[in-house]
Amino acid sequence: KTNEMILAIETSCDETAAAVIKGGTEILSNVVATQMEIHEQFGGVVPEIASRHHIEQITLVIEQALNEADVSMDEVDAFAVTEGPGLVGALLIGVNAAKTLAFAHNKPLIGVHHIAGHIYANRLEKEFQFPLLSLVVSGGHTELIYMKEHGHYEVIGETRDDAAGEAYDKVAKALKLPYPGGPVIDQLAQEGEDVYNFPRAWLEKDSYDFSFSGLKTSVINKLNQLNQKGESYRTEDLAASFQNSVIDVLVQKTYQAAKDLEVKQLIVAGGVSANKGLREAINQKFQDEDIELMIPPLYLCTDNAAMIGAAASIEYHNGQFKDSKLNANPGLML
Ligand code: KG4
Ligand code: ZN
Repeated sequence: KTNEMILAIETSCDETAAAVIKGGTEILSNVVATQMEIHEQFGGVVPEIASRHHIEQITLVIEQALNEADVSMDEVDAFAVTEGPGLVGALLIGVNAAKTLAFAHNKPLIGVHHIAGHIYANRLEKEFQFPLLSLVVSGGHTELIYMKEHGHYEVIGETRDDAAGEAYDKVAKALKLPYPGGPVIDQLAQEGEDVYNFPRAWLEKDSYDFSFSGLKTSVINKLNQLNQKGESYRTEDLAASFQNSVIDVLVQKTYQAAKDLEVKQLIVAGGVSANKGLREAINQKFQDEDIELMIPPLYLCTDNAAMIGAAASIEYHNGQFKDSKLNANPGLML
């Protein structure tokens, strides 16, 4: 079936999401129930609380996705779910829901890697051209992934410590800014200046790997120093200096990899791809290149189930299905 209808579910972190995707590229519905406000008061995602809210929301969210798509359960051709990576308790809620639905309706079950989802969010906008390179930057990931064809992923670089989004969240916490820190720092950075010139972690020559924990420590040390000396400073400048360092390294390494591998397209995906500074810098760096830049619209950058349905379409057409043994896998590899 070419225009298959996939009901996709995503519960890997703090969004309970369900979507109906037709033919891998058409969004019929995309429902996201976020728990952001709940976790905000704790300064980060509390796994136990996340699981509990997923349980409360999952059935409602799935029903709403079907209603908005105007699709009945019988019209669904396959059920897809994020099997990992993520919080195990959170993943389990989605995995169990999808398994139950697939079993009850006797339809195929598809397991999706969360990062494959972030990459395929872009295919909801535009067809892929291979080879392509993806920069996946989120709260849990900072990876450069090379793809020669659909469904095949080669991780050519990754963070050796903190993910980019994680560094944003930790620096925000040190600056006493609300969670999640990314959007807040991004906003402040627009009004600040890079006066601190924090280190850039280039690592070994030719390495496509990243490291952000040293930068994070530099920012926190600088902040403590300023506070101890009672010197006045602008949070905007700390934000801009931190953000510039992150962006410099992300853009330069991505550019180098894209050139070395002679890719046709560059995809930027994951929550941090919502970053205004990063979007601008990447656009500028690639504007004179023969490489097509793909950055999803904001609502597809952060966690959602539409992207899971888009990635699942490839598995559907390859007949790669899971059985009732499918389990949540918090450390799943691409
Ligand atoms: O992809 P995502 O929604 O969830 C994960 O799979 O991690 O990404 C969430 C991360 C958080 O760390 C958040 O601070 C970051 O993305 N983020 C941003 C921005 N918007 C979200 N980081 C920098 N700038 C932003 N505008
Ligand atoms: Zn994500």
